[in-house]
Amino acid sequence: SSDYRVKLVEVGPRDGLQNEKTAIPLATKLELIERLAKTGLTTIEAGSFVSPKWVPQMDNSSEILQHLLQHPVPAPNPLTYSFLAPNLKGLTNALSILSQHPTSFATESTAPTKETPALEIAVFASATESFSRKNLNCDIATSLANFKQVIQSAKDTHALRVRAYISVVLGCPFEGYDVDPHRVAQIATELLEMGADEIALGDTTGMGTAPRTKELLTCLSKAGVRNEDVAMHFHDTYGQALVNTAVALEHGIRTFDCSVGGLGGCPYSPGATGNVATEDVVYFMETLGMQTGVDLDAVVDVGDWITREIGKENASTVGKAVLGA
Ligand code: HMG
Ligand code: MG
Repeated sequence: SSDYRVKLVEVGPRDGLQNEKTAIPLATKLELIERLAKTGLTTIEAGSFVSPKWVPQMDNSSEILQHLLQHPVPAPNPLTYSFLAPNLKGLTNALSILSQHPTSFATESTAPTKETPALEIAVFASATESFSRKNLNCDIATSLANFKQVIQSAKDTHALRVRAYISVVLGCPFEGYDVDPHRVAQIATELLEMGADEIALGDTTGMGTAPRTKELLTCLSKAGVRNEDVAMHFHDTYGQALVNTAVALEHGIRTFDCSVGGLGGCPYSPGATGNVATEDVVYFMETLGMQTGVDLDAVVDVGDWITREIGKENASTVGKAVLGA
């Protein structure tokens, strides 16, 4: 039954790598995406069209998009690639590559194939004013006005799917636990009204707990936000990501973000560690009888490979257990 199917969004190539201080070669990023696609993951956040002064590691996202369109990755299933774009400048940079390869990708009206992946643009709002300033250099209202333009343009030019993040929904590095779930619901509603296809709720700091996750999702449901339009994006800084995942599953959410090897951290959230590891989520879903379509052993191998490649500790508990067994 479709109720037992979950969609995993692999954010390792973007959220996982964006905070790395030394430049990771383009070839390594492309190999990571290719290896991930072969595990059965179908949605991969591949880059970010942000200012290179702000996030230098994402500077070669144009080359990544270009490469993925010119050389379709051989994968078991059609793929969707997602790229962040905070403003029209970022979107324009992405669109200029798409216009060079107009038949190399699917849109909302044409189903993706193995040769023509689907593309998605992701905008990213914040639930608090202080995080908005730090991450986007503007207040929430200004960011939403920018996103309205990005969403409209992404739809008008190529009918692209648009994901809209809301960060710090369960805790803010600057405002603590003082994040109002009603404000989150209001921002989510505005983004959906602008045409966003999905709201990704970011627990940027990993401060989320089981009861507060439940409170937030209940508040969103009461505000009329549908579970099928919501994805959870848990960072695992306090080790609560799987507990919170269980709460969200119980609430009816079926889309979850994760990062292979537990890579990552947000440059504007001091001390935040990586997203919940893909390996841990796949294993957890298997124990519940939920279907992810992802091969656990294959994704464990990718986590082992990429963490060695960039000299990081493997942060996946399940990955380490499988590799040590
Ligand atoms: P700003 O400095 O206010 O921008 O930054 P500006 O409009 O004044 O422009 C300044 C310069 O940046 C100009 O260049 C622009 O052309 C350029 P100059 O004239 O000085 O040479 N510029 C750009 N270049 C490339 N791409 C662009 C772009 N926009 C302007 N898109 C801005 C505003 C939004 C650009 C900046 O704040 C920024 O790039 N922020 C991104 C921060 C970021 O990437 N954070 C991490 C991703 S979010 C995250 O990780 C959370 C998430 O995982 C969910 C969760 O965990 O909660 C998604
Ligand atoms: Mg994140």
